[in-house]
Amino acid sequence: MISLDDDLLASNPLRENTVEHRIALPSIMVIFGATGDLTQRKLLPALYSLASDQPPLPASFTVVGVARRPWSTEEFRQKMEDGVKKYARAAYDEELWKTFSAGIFYEQVEFNDINAYRHLAETLTQLNQERGAMGNRIFYLATPPSYYSDIVRNLGAAGLASDSPQNDGQGWNRLIVEKPFGYDKATAKALNAELGEVFNEDQIYRIDHYLGKETVQNILVLRFGNYIFEPIWNRQYIDHVQITVAENIGVEGRGGYYEDSGALRDMMQNHLMQLLTLTAMEPPTGFSANSVRDEKVKVLHAIKPMDTSTLLKNTVRAQYAAGITSTGKYVPGYLEETGVAKQSKTETFVSAKVEIDNWRWAEVPFYLRTGKRLPKRVTEIAIQFKRPPFSLFRKSGAEELQPNILSLRIQPNEGISLKFGAKSPGQAMRIHAVNMDFQYGSSFGAEPPEAYERLLLDAMLGDSTLFTRRDETETAWELVDSIKAVWENFDSDTPMQSYEPGTWGPQAADKLIETDGRFWRRL
Ligand code: NDP
Ligand code: BG6
Repeated sequence: MISLDDDLLASNPLRENTVEHRIALPSIMVIFGATGDLTQRKLLPALYSLASDQPPLPASFTVVGVARRPWSTEEFRQKMEDGVKKYARAAYDEELWKTFSAGIFYEQVEFNDINAYRHLAETLTQLNQERGAMGNRIFYLATPPSYYSDIVRNLGAAGLASDSPQNDGQGWNRLIVEKPFGYDKATAKALNAELGEVFNEDQIYRIDHYLGKETVQNILVLRFGNYIFEPIWNRQYIDHVQITVAENIGVEGRGGYYEDSGALRDMMQNHLMQLLTLTAMEPPTGFSANSVRDEKVKVLHAIKPMDTSTLLKNTVRAQYAAGITSTGKYVPGYLEETGVAKQSKTETFVSAKVEIDNWRWAEVPFYLRTGKRLPKRVTEIAIQFKRPPFSLFRKSGAEELQPNILSLRIQPNEGISLKFGAKSPGQAMRIHAVNMDFQYGSSFGAEPPEAYERLLLDAMLGDSTLFTRRDETETAWELVDSIKAVWENFDSDTPMQSYEPGTWGPQAADKLIETDGRFWRRL
């Protein structure tokens, strides 16, 4: 157990972002796709929790939900209230909801109809005056990605992207774009170009909600807010790294979306790449958006390109089969899910071995795996260190010696633990592995806020550090594109494996790592 130490907080490089500095200016957030799942489950609950925080969002903060359904503002408020009650971190408070919901509005907009945007512009002008939003606007694209270009073009045509005339021209316009960002590198590039015609890069916030998770940000604090880890954070001491993002759920009614996406595009291209870059990056020169993002992009560029035979050897794809979960429930296989083609070649599990070709990481494998219907929901980065060069205790039970592992638990049970060998009590020199544990909940006495809370507030504050930069989104596609191409072109050499629900994927995934004399961690 590790307890909270004030000295540790004082050396926190994120200190400049502590709560006393995080007061947002009034603004209007226009959510495109407001009748959808993301808005009700994540966005409004996060905004409500921010409104309940200290300091709270400004009382004049306003939300305008925009979608196709002919909902009234009252109906929209009702649905959002249901979402807040069910999903918000902050407890539901009737008084707070009354004040907060007075700033929530709905407008029916067909995304392709330019006239609807002209009407929206009038609504925003009026709300800005009534609620004192200082001409500040954030447009949030929570829609199917196929609409991103149209919406942005129409925002531009309706004059909504340029500086607002209110507040003496001081008002700002920002754009938040949900994932997936493109379908591959070429489409990501094209989308970036389209957004760039209407918004400047510093107005664009490409979201990857993993970056909003406290424990993901803590990777930076652990590495660069402490002195003891960096000297050993390299190929001399580290044997390999395992990154696991496991989910126990299936595609949960999102079969239509998932068919075009698969684990590779849905998880690997974004969430796993973020975890990889934060783990592998060099220390940035400062905690500014560009310094951090520069270093992350360098890691992406350093990922060792793999030729066809290496890609065939180093990647595994699989789909979950029908079966009984550990809770005794029957679940359908991926091919039986609604919206999924009977002959689908979309993977629900992927594992890969990659290397980073630079001075720090040469020849240190990074094993990545992600999948749905695995035994549990767990995200972890495990840094496995090399064994001692000389086994001093060989005669006295050295076979029990296990490598040191530093595991960063992103979720759940957020925390960090270090595994090391300790002498077990008694006359004999016996060594057992023990864990030194830090847990967020018990050390800080509070659960971390939801990722979307952090990111929405950052966008309001104009801090893009935890958002993906243009070149980063494009480069992050390169590995995924190369894997996808090999899977498509050498279909029979990379057969789609199958795995039982509630297992850690197919045997081929075990083989991928065991061939190197290593093993997946049992989580
Ligand atoms: P949904 O399918 O639930 O919602 C789509 C929204 O878009 C609805 O509000 C729908 O309005 C609206 N819409 C679609 N077509 C039109 C149109 N022609 N004109 C006007 N409105 C339209 O999607 P999600 O909320 O699940 O996802 C939104 C985005 O967020 C996607 O990019 C997704 O990848 C991303 N995302 C979602 C996550 C999640 O957990 N849901 C997690 C991470 C990212 P209506 O229903 O009224 O027609
Ligand atoms: C989303 C994916 O980006 O992340 C989903 O589209 C996945 O398929 C989700 O379930 C996982 O997020 P979290 O925060 O629950 O790990």
